[in-house]
Amino acid sequence: GDSSFQAEDKSAFVEFFRDKHGHLPVPSSPVRPRGDPSLLFVNAGMNQFKPIFLGTADPRSDMASYRRVVNSQKCVRAGGKHNDLDDVGRDGYHHTFFEMLGNWSFGDYFKEEACQMAWSLLTEHYGIPADRLYVSYFGGDAAAGLPADEDTRNIWVPTHRLLPFGLKDNFWEMGDTGPCGPCTEIHYDHVGGREATALVNADSPEVVEIWNLVFMQYNREVDHSLRLLPQVSVDTGMGLERLVSVLQGKTSNYDTDLFTPLLHAIHQRSGVEPYRGRMGAVDVGQVDLAYRVVADHVRTLSVCIADGVYPGMSGAELVLRRILRRAVRFCVEVLCAPQGTLASLVPTMVFVFQIVDIINENEAHFLSSLQQGSRLIERTLSRKDYKHGVFPGQSRSRL
Ligand code: SER
Repeated sequence: GDSSFQAEDKSAFVEFFRDKHGHLPVPSSPVRPRGDPSLLFVNAGMNQFKPIFLGTADPRSDMASYRRVVNSQKCVRAGGKHNDLDDVGRDGYHHTFFEMLGNWSFGDYFKEEACQMAWSLLTEHYGIPADRLYVSYFGGDAAAGLPADEDTRNIWVPTHRLLPFGLKDNFWEMGDTGPCGPCTEIHYDHVGGREATALVNADSPEVVEIWNLVFMQYNREVDHSLRLLPQVSVDTGMGLERLVSVLQGKTSNYDTDLFTPLLHAIHQRSGVEPYRGRMGAVDVGQVDLAYRVVADHVRTLSVCIADGVYPGMSGAELVLRRILRRAVRFCVEVLCAPQGTLASLVPTMVFVFQIVDIINENEAHFLSSLQQGSRLIERTLSRKDYKHGVFPGQSRSRL
């Protein structure tokens, strides 16, 4: 369907790390954190791997054997340390819900390979022109006793436009406590054909961070001290919505096929002009802002509710209730849409997420396994040496 482009970009990421670099694909965890009171929502791909970073993974769990892993994680940044709620709608690249593509090394490869893989995927595989990319690295923080990340500087320095930044931009922390470390970020210039160094980390919609590579080395303790982790790890995260905007040549994520079906559906139900992508003062009456907020919030509501976070009275539930009410107000007051509009957008969200395609693919796969299985049973039953009414115990068919 129309939504296939973004899905291809996503599978290309997973396949690159799986096929070229031996990573194990793992599913996204639900956005409701499991057993981690330090989190309101899952805010990064690394959350579900926290026990591996800390060296506390149950040795009998699958996780304990992970060395190289790749996935696409559903993330919500609407509360806690990473909260993008206030930016949503005002620009074209912050969301309360987004998908994060990530690759991980747990005590396996480190900085050099991580940087090489990321660069090769972006420039060779996705074909992004290298002269649109800028790289930042951790320049150190004397007060915190943290040295500059010279290793990373040296890896990038021969060929790349490099900028050092401090704790705020280039030292990633999961929350008030948890795994953390210096990071190196890859930024993309949507304009190109110029020198845009001054726009890196300057809140410009033209130059946007697309990929963050974190070198996990510490745990931030409750007393705010940094404890060295038992082993070093790599934790990367690239925003799917931003990657898709780059690959589809759009400055705003809302102009990609992840959002246009939703904006279109909102227009069909509203009493206002179509979405025109205006931002700031020229967006008279904040109509386009309302479109963006509603499109963003309906995604977040759908994913959260599907993962068992319902609008409610405290914690994540309260955040979701506020998100719902904010979306309702924009629908009714700005977009002049009738009651019921918000819920009526859910099927479009389901379409964009290809839930129907995924179910159909899985059904087809399962039905063909089932057919194979019954053929195997029939063949066995009809074999001449099949005696005593006892069916041979070994089965090759895995349903
Ligand atoms: N954890 C880092 C981030 O969220 C990299 O995945 O940006």
